[in-house]
Amino acid sequence: MADVVEIFEVGPRDGLQNEPVFINALQKIALVDGLAKAGLPRIECASFVSPKWVPQMADGSAVVSGSSRRASELYALVPNERGLQHALISPVQGICLFLAATEGFNRANTNISRTGAIERVKLLIDNFKNNTDGSIALRGYISCVIDCPYDGKVAPSGVAEIAETLFQAGCDEISLGDTIGNGHPDQVDAMLTAVKKRVPSRILAGHYHDTAARALDNIDVSLEHGLRTFDASIAGLGGCPYAPGAKGNVGTEKVFDHLLSRGFSILGDPDRAALARVGDMARSIVGRPLNAI
Ligand code: HMG
Ligand code: MG
Repeated sequence: MADVVEIFEVGPRDGLQNEPVFINALQKIALVDGLAKAGLPRIECASFVSPKWVPQMADGSAVVSGSSRRASELYALVPNERGLQHALISPVQGICLFLAATEGFNRANTNISRTGAIERVKLLIDNFKNNTDGSIALRGYISCVIDCPYDGKVAPSGVAEIAETLFQAGCDEISLGDTIGNGHPDQVDAMLTAVKKRVPSRILAGHYHDTAARALDNIDVSLEHGLRTFDASIAGLGGCPYAPGAKGNVGTEKVFDHLLSRGFSILGDPDRAALARVGDMARSIVGRPLNAI
């Protein structure tokens, strides 16, 4: 039987967060529902961050509440206690926390030092555990696992240290972000080798932006390391507001085709034609061609 890999869809959150023109909640909900109907098991559909920092994500509650939850599990990103409380009164099945491996990116993205970010996330995880009954999944993101737009090259040991902290604090899953999307497979290999000394590969996901068009190569090396979950964004939507020049996540359709061509099967058996139609919807929502197929 074919080895199964999951595509974790992040288009409605990571993909849209950097769009300069406000996309209304109905359009966001249509995108999430299209992705759910296409058969993607988990969709990160919103973030509960400061609207002063990321105005595009200001309507997280409306998006989560309005999206269909039958077919897919909906996840939301939170930066702090306030975001966590808002997300937990919405019907989400998963919460995503985030911090970066580097000083510069933590400061630019969440106005806090690296040490402060680690402490904040540990506290958030404690609060999450105290306020939930085990039915909501907890995903932790580490940004800048290869390099940082502010601090340059990142030591794999620094990524491994944070991954171990998230694991020990109780994250169910840790997603490793090549935020700028310039990583080479040999760098991903070195990073994963270090992380796997401290955290089992079964809870790791690869989150590769595709700026340098090497995301599929980075997925391949990650598959060799035993990773079986990859974040992707429909039509390659995206870019991070605090990572200048970074492009979107690797496109969902691209990852789908690549995994099938390599003989893997895809969790949930998504419908490729339906994904193509949602990709068209994504292009029409942002009003420009995207580069992901
Ligand atoms: P701050 O300015 O230090 O904190 O921001 P603050 O507490 O002074 O908050 C500023 C204002 O926001 C205040 O409003 C707060 O009340 C409000 P004011 O009093 O001035 O009117 N506020 C909130 N409003 C709604 N929801 C909240 C919330 N928190 C505060 N949760 C803060 C600190 C963390 C809030 C801010 O820096 C922030 O929201 N940052 C988020 C940035 C972000 O979303 N970045 C993109 C996501 S990460 C990513 O894309 C990477 C990833 O994809 C992986 C990868 O690719 O690497 C995951
Ligand atoms: Mg990202």
